[in-house]
Amino acid sequence: MRTRLPETGTDWETLQAEMRAYAEDDADWRAGRTAVYVFNAGEDVLRVAKDAYRMFMSENGLGAARAFPSLKRMEADVVGFGLDLLGAPEDAVGDMTSGGTESILMAVKTCRDWWRARGRDVAGAEILAPQSAHPAFDKAAALLSLKVVRVPVRSDFQADVAAMEQAVTDRTLMLVGSAPCFPYGVIDPIGELGGLAETKDLWLHVDACVGGYFAPFARMNGIDLPAFDFQVPAVRSISADLHKYGYAAKGASTVFYRNASLREHQLFQFSGWPCGTMVTPTLAGTRPGGAIAAAWAVMKYLGIDGYRAKARAVVEAREALSEGIAAIDGMRLWGQPKLGLMTFGSDDADIFAVADIMAAKGWVSARIDPPRGIHLMLSPAHLATVDDYLSDLRDAAARVRRNDLTSASAGGSYN
Ligand SMILES: Cc1ncc(COP(=O)(O)O)c(C=O)c1O
Repeated sequence: MRTRLPETGTDWETLQAEMRAYAEDDADWRAGRTAVYVFNAGEDVLRVAKDAYRMFMSENGLGAARAFPSLKRMEADVVGFGLDLLGAPEDAVGDMTSGGTESILMAVKTCRDWWRARGRDVAGAEILAPQSAHPAFDKAAALLSLKVVRVPVRSDFQADVAAMEQAVTDRTLMLVGSAPCFPYGVIDPIGELGGLAETKDLWLHVDACVGGYFAPFARMNGIDLPAFDFQVPAVRSISADLHKYGYAAKGASTVFYRNASLREHQLFQFSGWPCGTMVTPTLAGTRPGGAIAAAWAVMKYLGIDGYRAKARAVVEAREALSEGIAAIDGMRLWGQPKLGLMTFGSDDADIFAVADIMAAKGWVSARIDPPRGIHLMLSPAHLATVDDYLSDLRDAAARVRRNDLTSASAGGSYN
């Protein structure tokens, strides 16, 4: 469909009204009924992110070294905060990117080029990942002429390290573990994957896009979590998103490396044009100053205390939901999540039919298959809507069982 730019401009008030009208059909995430796409840590956090974004909206991370020392300083702080939270050694390094997909792309490219510099033939080489890993690895592989080999997960939905060991070949470059994975919200056994990576001499990447800025605070709150970060010696790179549980404005993630010599292989350098040598650390050229500033401001605004309080609220919401769900006939959780993601299904009713009814009542969430389940990605703001959700869920489950309803929708859905 082609649209045409108006001949003349429109005043801003009219445009704002038009945009508000456009948004009328959008998910009302502020009401705590959307458990996917948006992380709602409250109006105060949102205001800090927005104001900081506005302050640096026109500045460019590309020119940080020459023109915007403010951004350089803020990015260095943000990367430092992340490294500190993820148990990194002194010489670990990292960069900000636009999101989880870019962080994963950069880690895969860095791994590939690091191996290539060691004389390996990397054409068509393999990334070995649990079935539950995010498709960002497949996107990276498609762009970098690599291949992802996915291995079924265990019955507790965690990576099956023994099965992954069987799948290692002389083409394998990288092992992937998630902390946590998106579909079931469980953390893979990163320590065991580390053992395998050491034995087989492989690069281990931890996808902590969801948990990187959540798990450290949950642990400080006393939740028993296995080692999932640079504390595991074989972990060479980690992706961790600021625009998820870091509560930053969208367009902000981090990618970390155990040491600077690994990161060398991330850099892109080009000199064959009239402007001299251009070196970019990540995929982007221009990088939004607003996203850097908003991440910095939200992190400093919340501090460790603030993040711990947010983590507590999310975990409380998840526990209350889990209890309520387990009390519904036939319903149960898939796996034992410990952070903010959870998936549940039913042994004797069509959970997608339940999801259809919940969607009609305005609850927006993802669907998982297999096994069929409703997926919730919780924010601190969901604590206030737990009772409403459970009440609607009980009604929906009862209707589905009473009328033996089935859903027309097939398969999982996320976007
Ligand atoms: C575990 C995990 N990794 C990576 C990503 C990709 O992140 P993004 O959507 O920011 O590119 C997601 C997104 O939900 C995720 O859940």
